[in-house]
Amino acid sequence: MTDPAAAALGQSAVAEDPAAARRRHAELSAIIQEQRWNYYVLDAPTMTDGQFDRLMRRLEELERDWPELVGPDSPTQQVGPLGASFAAVEHPSVMLSLDNAFDYAEVKAWSQRLEHLVGAERVARSGYLCEAKIDGLAVDLVYRDGRLVQAATRGDGRVGEDVTANVWTIAAVPHRLTGPAPELIEVRGEVFLPLAGFQDLNRELEAAERKTFANPRNAAAGSLRLKDPKVTAERPLTFLCHGLGLGLIAAERLSEVYDRLSQWGLPTSPETRPADSVERVLAWVDDLGQRRHRLSHEIDGAVVKVDDLALQAELGATIRAPRWAIAYKFPPVEVTTRLLDIRVNVGRTGRVTPYAVMAPVEVAGSTVEMATLHNAAEVDRKGVLIGDTVVLRKAGDVIPEVLGPVLADRDGSQRRFVMPQRCPDCGCELRPEKAGDADLRCPNQRACPAQVRQRLVHLASRAALDIEGLGERAAEALLADGVLADESELFDLTAEALLDCALFRNQSGALSAVGTKLLEQLEQAKRRPFERFLIGLSIRHLGKGVAPQVAAAVGDIDELAQATVERLTEIAGVGPIVAEAVVEWFGVDWHRQIVRRWRAAGALAAPPKPSSATLAQTLTGLSIVVTGTLPGYSREQASAAITARGGKATGSVSSRTDFVVAGDNAGSKLAKAQSWGRPILDQAAFEILLAQGPAGLTESTEPA
Ligand code: IVH
Repeated sequence: MTDPAAAALGQSAVAEDPAAARRRHAELSAIIQEQRWNYYVLDAPTMTDGQFDRLMRRLEELERDWPELVGPDSPTQQVGPLGASFAAVEHPSVMLSLDNAFDYAEVKAWSQRLEHLVGAERVARSGYLCEAKIDGLAVDLVYRDGRLVQAATRGDGRVGEDVTANVWTIAAVPHRLTGPAPELIEVRGEVFLPLAGFQDLNRELEAAERKTFANPRNAAAGSLRLKDPKVTAERPLTFLCHGLGLGLIAAERLSEVYDRLSQWGLPTSPETRPADSVERVLAWVDDLGQRRHRLSHEIDGAVVKVDDLALQAELGATIRAPRWAIAYKFPPVEVTTRLLDIRVNVGRTGRVTPYAVMAPVEVAGSTVEMATLHNAAEVDRKGVLIGDTVVLRKAGDVIPEVLGPVLADRDGSQRRFVMPQRCPDCGCELRPEKAGDADLRCPNQRACPAQVRQRLVHLASRAALDIEGLGERAAEALLADGVLADESELFDLTAEALLDCALFRNQSGALSAVGTKLLEQLEQAKRRPFERFLIGLSIRHLGKGVAPQVAAAVGDIDELAQATVERLTEIAGVGPIVAEAVVEWFGVDWHRQIVRRWRAAGALAAPPKPSSATLAQTLTGLSIVVTGTLPGYSREQASAAITARGGKATGSVSSRTDFVVAGDNAGSKLAKAQSWGRPILDQAAFEILLAQGPAGLTESTEPA
């Protein structure tokens, strides 16, 4: 890459005199601090992990030679900066980071240091605990009397951001510990997105034409810092414990602590293994490295810890990291390859996206030859030319990402990419949707073959109508052979029409098994629920996340076609952007024509209205106290509303109360709720709670 990181790495750490050392220290510190900000706060790193680690290494070497440069502000003494938007909370005990080892020799050197400090025999008696290093973000969970009362990000290690409302929505994090638990326990672990969840999320974001995440770590960080816990609740975040802060557990070994955490219902990683020697540690780390691409989540290394808790205490910590643990970081998966061409792809909604075509190269367990470049501005920002040698990485080991050119390999034969002015599929002039948009679009939505094809494929996708046999190839053939003009005709397809398409004929000219299957699938698809049609319609911003709420609220397509922006924004989860997109969609003639033709063909039948006997059990396991008067509810009606949804309506506030609903003239129960620190809800929040359960509560309705 061509940025300050590369420049700074080009220089050596050795400085001849104190002034030069100071200058070099200041320069390295500034680059590292900026990168930390980009990484932790903006979730948009501008250098590779490998480069960052090497910069840190340079700084450490410099500080070793010039110890007077080590100050409290030095990046080597800090853990990471704070974001600005969530309330700051002090952790009950400081969250340290880990020292890194970049090869096996450094792991061995660490174990020798331990032996030197406390004697080889004691280290051998303790043994090590090897763990996967989960690539997510650290959170600190505080349980008081077995209840989760606070969740915070690591921040600078001392003070983090209060993300309790969001962590509450993570199913893997228990709200209550099972069995008797200590008065106070501080559990640390990693919040992350499993790979499958990350891929689903990006697909959804893509479908809703929103910015996708570069890797699971960024996606997890972004999801945990959303201002609306309702949205966080839809993100498939999960959690694994990897340590303790304050709180006493009667145990001699860390491995026993993990057993105890599991008994309380806290998730621990299956990738945890005791090892009685450093050789065994390294054998396991090696094995983990071989398996890392087959795990269900990203890992960026292994963490090796001294298992004996008394020995841990004796070894203690530096200001930054414990002496009893070390993180072995896997070598970064970055490769170079040749950028053969930059082409453009036209998406379902007309967005024209440049993508890199590269000489096939093996990276993180698979062969890569294409990578999206997002838009023309991004091509410029990366500074890549066609013909360049480029650095490629599998972002989050999933999505290939071109990082930048290797400038030293340029020989003058490289050429700039020029964004086409016309659609490569239909020839229409491309334009941004509105002034200032980075993306260019093909405006020929109705007839551009690429757009129609992509809409058909989307309609057939699993989240929408799940029509097996209508993939990219079939859609292309049906359109190219004139069997379909667009999606409005899909449910009119007959065996006779399919015979016009070679793909659906067998050798004797009759309908093939694939053709018969497609017709059967179409019949089934006609009967899918309304929400699946909604997802399939390619209405912008109306994806899997919000379609079920819209479908449940409006009942059928006719009602939706009539709905105003005001009506739609009353639906939980629907904001003005979605609402306007829906109204705009139904304002287009050929869109309404799609609906008419589908209905005429027997699709999109009105769904039966749900009966009140099937109320969603949103409050299962929750104990709720109602106090004061709530307009529209008698006390009995409020209690009935709670119990009908699986909750328990109780009369008095205690530490076991999950929520207190306070209406007008609430008296002593409200005061008691405040003194117990129980969440207090007003009527509006109560109604959200009834409809959606705790995950529906936003920060403003759910006091910390
Ligand atoms: S132990 C004082 N164990 O890695 C001990 N950390 O680079 C600190 N991490 O801040 C943490 N997997 O967010 C530990 N098995 C594991 C881990 C792990 C991931 C993260 C954690 C930590 C960071 C340090």
